[in-house]
Amino acid sequence: MNAQSAASVVSPTPVWNAANLGAPAHVCHRGVIEWVASIAALAQPERIVWCDGSDEEYRRLCDQMVAAGTLRPLNPEKRPGSYLAWSDPSDVARVEDRTFVCPARGEDAGPTNNWVDPREMRTTMRGLFQGAMRGRTLYVVPFSMGPLGSPIAHLGIELTDSPYVVVSMRTMTRMGRLVYDLLGELGAYVPCVHTVGAPLAPGVADVAWPCNPAKYIVHYPETREIWSFGSGYGGNALLGKKCFALRIASTMGRQDVAADGEGWLAEHMLILGVTSPEGRKYHIAAAFPSACGKTNFAMLIPPQGFEGWRVTTIGDDIAWIKPSPDGRLRAINPEAGYFGVAPGTNTRTNPNCMASLRENTIFTNVALTDDGDVWWEGMTDTPPDHLIDWQGRDWSPADGKAGRKAAHPNARFTVAATQNPAIDPAWDSVEGVAIDAFIFGGRRSSTVPLVTEARNWVEGVYMAATMGSETTAAAMGQQGVVRRDPFAMLPFCGYNMADYFRHWLELGGKLAARGSVLPRIYCVNWFRTDENGRFVWPGFGENMRVLRWIVERLEGRAEGGEHVFGISPRYRDLHWSGLVFPEEQFARITSIDLAAWREEFRLHGELFDSLAQRMPAELLAVKRDLEHKLAA
Ligand code: OXD
Ligand code: MN
Repeated sequence: MNAQSAASVVSPTPVWNAANLGAPAHVCHRGVIEWVASIAALAQPERIVWCDGSDEEYRRLCDQMVAAGTLRPLNPEKRPGSYLAWSDPSDVARVEDRTFVCPARGEDAGPTNNWVDPREMRTTMRGLFQGAMRGRTLYVVPFSMGPLGSPIAHLGIELTDSPYVVVSMRTMTRMGRLVYDLLGELGAYVPCVHTVGAPLAPGVADVAWPCNPAKYIVHYPETREIWSFGSGYGGNALLGKKCFALRIASTMGRQDVAADGEGWLAEHMLILGVTSPEGRKYHIAAAFPSACGKTNFAMLIPPQGFEGWRVTTIGDDIAWIKPSPDGRLRAINPEAGYFGVAPGTNTRTNPNCMASLRENTIFTNVALTDDGDVWWEGMTDTPPDHLIDWQGRDWSPADGKAGRKAAHPNARFTVAATQNPAIDPAWDSVEGVAIDAFIFGGRRSSTVPLVTEARNWVEGVYMAATMGSETTAAAMGQQGVVRRDPFAMLPFCGYNMADYFRHWLELGGKLAARGSVLPRIYCVNWFRTDENGRFVWPGFGENMRVLRWIVERLEGRAEGGEHVFGISPRYRDLHWSGLVFPEEQFARITSIDLAAWREEFRLHGELFDSLAQRMPAELLAVKRDLEHKLAA
């Protein structure tokens, strides 16, 4: 974006007001200036910097963080333009138990969110923010979620005292001064306030990763505001991502029903393009819970036997989806970069991702090699003989054998989407892409078959609403326990989950009434295991076989067999060239175990009971119908 250097102003005594903020002339939005003044007066930073998103600003902040010990430059021959950050060991992941959704009435947050009365929460947050930025710089970070000027995009401004957040936001969003041109004098934006919560007393040296043991990630959906205190990590601090693009945006999509009759969807979905050898192109949006391989699926390289097929990436984590005038659902990726989990990523599981990370990447909590490069578990079969682990300690393969990981399981990379060799040509288009199918998938070692097509929209919504996924080492909780994660949105839905189900049902109903062809809905499971706990399905590039079946179903060219829950391919309905995968193996990942499904329905019932107050009757009716079919 524009290369004009940032405006910066220092106050010897932190008494800030609208007149002494040093706002650049291109910031002509009174509301923005008054809001920045009010936060500055509260948090009392020593300095204010109005960020412009320029390369020069990015480099300057990186140099500053290198000097402060927050970033370590990597070997420019091995990883040009790249850095490594190690966080405080207490600040390594999203904190779901410290995340709050605070509408005026608790029922509107629903039982799946932590709720506190917003009046009480505002008092708490103002108390925490009082003087919280003392001795630090407040950065004003303007950003667009989505292509600049897209009718599906929305603007935000994050105020933060973390330079790590500023450089990450520059990669993850369209950040910079052009946002002020779009905002004009009166434009709407989502105000996001963030502090690491570690004021610096005069003369006291800073630490490499300041944060606070107390953490609060707070959303006020009615006023579309975000306040985050105490963490500098990922979704807790880069407020454009989970806080805005999912929690606040999901609420906005539903509130907008009142304005335009249909509203829109903010979803935890990757978006990919799949092109057949004949050049026909389809767009698929797919929801999976965290750590189920979304980035791998979004960057899939078709396997041997699929010559001429191509998969291209529009997004790897979040989709904003809006009905267009022609009745199609069009989607954009609101983000501009990938903040992906590094462990497990390698040239076999995701060659496109590894290529994306070759340069200009910020790595967080991975290990450092002796030649100044990075390493994480799963990057190579054999680890290097010596590393410095993510906590700065010497590490050898013997430590690995003893169970000490060199990289934190939730270690991340932050990289611009444009570095992905498989980026879709339309990834930045203002109109977005028309969605042909939705896929929902969880991590299930049993019960759920490889792929099932819903017979209609309502049954598809039921499938998505009842999704479950087994927790992994990277997520909290006991490993291997199935957690219900409706639409992969459990930690991200900004309002009552039952109302969210209704929003999906109503949107489908309204589009169907307009005569639109709705995207088909599929449920997938790559993760069924054998009696030794090993995955039966090879996954990764081989998931193309399922994707191709879906595409051929859309074209009316593929067959399937109908069963209790929908339509699944029989062995003969998938293309097997290039893979030896015997029919008995296929049976293991597609069989329907009646006893397991009776238990599954009991668990669906538990979820629905927890949402009973507002649960849509249509979904209860689907449940009854499927249970009857199963009993028969
Ligand atoms: C993510 C997540 O970081 O879902 O994308 O946790
Ligand atoms: Mn995610």
